[in-house]
Amino acid sequence: MAIKNITVLGSGIMGHGIAQVAAMHGYNVILRDIEQQFLDKAMEKIKWSLDKLVSKQKISEEESQKIFSRITPKIDLGEALRNCDLMIEAVPEVMDLKKKVYAEADAVANNNTIYASNTSTLPITEIANITNRPDKFIGIHFFNPPQLMKLVEVIPGQKTPRDIVELTMSFVKSVSKEPVLCKKDVVGFIVNRIFIPLVHEAAWAMDRTKASMTEIDSAMKFTLNFPMGIFELADFTGLDVIHKATIEMYSRDKKVINPHPLIQKLFDQKKLGQKTGSGFYEYTGEKYERVNLTEELAKKFDPTQMLGTMLNNAAWLVTNQASDVTEIEKALNLGMGLRKPIFETAKELGMAKIVKELQSLANIYGKFYEPDPYLLSTQN
Ligand SMILES: NC(=O)c1ccc[n+]([C@@H]2O[C@H](COP(=O)([O-])OP(=O)(O)OC[C@H]3O[C@@H](n4cnc5c(N)ncnc54)[C@H](O)[C@@H]3O)[C@@H](O)[C@H]2O)c1
Repeated sequence: MAIKNITVLGSGIMGHGIAQVAAMHGYNVILRDIEQQFLDKAMEKIKWSLDKLVSKQKISEEESQKIFSRITPKIDLGEALRNCDLMIEAVPEVMDLKKKVYAEADAVANNNTIYASNTSTLPITEIANITNRPDKFIGIHFFNPPQLMKLVEVIPGQKTPRDIVELTMSFVKSVSKEPVLCKKDVVGFIVNRIFIPLVHEAAWAMDRTKASMTEIDSAMKFTLNFPMGIFELADFTGLDVIHKATIEMYSRDKKVINPHPLIQKLFDQKKLGQKTGSGFYEYTGEKYERVNLTEELAKKFDPTQMLGTMLNNAAWLVTNQASDVTEIEKALNLGMGLRKPIFETAKELGMAKIVKELQSLANIYGKFYEPDPYLLSTQN
């Protein structure tokens, strides 16, 4: 089966970007939302983004017009799904809403249409099983903003057959993205399974060591090769996104995350990060504002426990056959901007030291820190 016609459900932050990316690679796209004003706004944003590409001479004016004309905004769901090969669902991350949307789609979609959900944290198999086609259902997790981020996690549900996985992987490549297969429908998939717990870990590290936020962040940047500090990255992502992912992930698996109350507190105070002017840090509102991190500050914090937590969640993915080290490193590089593979950094810092640190944390704080068998096996 060849994919030609894509329907994107939801024209918000992710949906409009995914629609643009697909149209830029020759697909006919229908963008569906529930109100005309949302679609108008989305089409305006797409036009703005294409104009920017024209002004940077990445595409010609003629190409821009062609791409734009490939996207048809629609409200009527029946019309939106009439000739659809692949439906990409990007409606808000609320299980009950997703269920309602899929029930509506089932009533009008033709039997061949593949359903793909862009969910970041909800279980693919659970959504798949409420539809009339769990064998044509898959997770396709684009990162924000889809126009710029190369990574797409592809997550089969329990009943997704191989051919649908392969078709989805090819589709992702056809829109010039890098697919990383998360072989099992595990909590947080790959990147969020490592990133979200790490934000909490940074807050715990601050309590335990009395290091300052900028010391921890400097070590993340200069010792662990992050593109920016972890608190900074959390502010950039949004504490609302992190809080929501935390609740969802923790409710499904207590071992995946050790929630720190500071995240809940910031969320309750509506300190959501850069977009609200304050989060872990305070912001003045300037675009691309960055926290001042230095190599000097980095020397004041030993990030072994941070790296240990990351490696432990990565190792869990390997032990549970959801992924392998190469794919995890690729996902962390493309999804979080890590400049160096974590297992390489670990080798340099000493795996035995990292495992020892995790063991002593486990002795005090419990199961969450117990080193994964895969980490134990890589010590020598
Ligand atoms: N924002 C992110 O950083 C990000 C990153 C990766 C994945 N995701 C996932 O992508 C999905 C969408 O997130 P978002 O941030 O784009 O949300 P959003 O709130 O920006 O957009 C959702 C859109 O869906 C529309 N909608 C609601 N009900 C609908 C329906 N019945 N049919 C069609 N459209 C409907 C809303 O009007 C809105 O325009 C979520 O599952 C989220 O977890 C988000």
